[in-house]
Amino acid sequence: MKKIVAIYPGSFDPPTNGHLDLIERGSKIFDQLVVAILRNPEKAPLFTLPERVRMLELMTSDFNNVHVDTFDGLTVDYAAKVKAEAILRGIRAISDYEYELQMALMNRKLHPNLETVFMMPAEQYSYLSSRLVREVAQLGGSVKDLVPEAVEQRLKEKLDPAVKLQSTREPKSRKRG
Ligand code: PNS
Repeated sequence: MKKIVAIYPGSFDPPTNGHLDLIERGSKIFDQLVVAILRNPEKAPLFTLPERVRMLELMTSDFNNVHVDTFDGLTVDYAAKVKAEAILRGIRAISDYEYELQMALMNRKLHPNLETVFMMPAEQYSYLSSRLVREVAQLGGSVKDLVPEAVEQRLKEKLDPAVKLQSTREPKSRKRG
């Protein structure tokens, strides 16, 4: 039977619980879902590409039809490369719609057979964005419940070097036996 591959492109700087929610929904309707992180030389991200790959790999390790990759250039070209038939994007609120519609229609113009599929994350993530997570974390606020624990920890390490030092100094627990 034919397998439907979809890509879920984005910056994921950092990945949030909203992204994870969408990945989980996408993994249920597509046979394969590729979380595709854009390598964007113009943006100065908070997290390096390998850091974002690692965080997303950890977050998605329970889904056996999801994998993480990086790409540059046009999303439609990457989709063709991995033989994807759909682009998955999240719409949180009406404010997302205009930009997402523009992108979807431009992508359709570039590659008419590629469908964009919009899904809504759970309501509790409707205000959540990577930008706000970065801002709150940078200003010392709590991002608990907004990002997975592993991301929360990495944000602390990134923004407070003392935390990193502490975690590298902590003695590793010894295995018994
Ligand atoms: O998480 P983001 O930043 O909202 O993701 C935006 C992304 C990566 C999906 C978009 O910028 C993109 O597709 N960039 C790749 C270049 C491209 O294809 N541009 C034309 C899109 S219409």
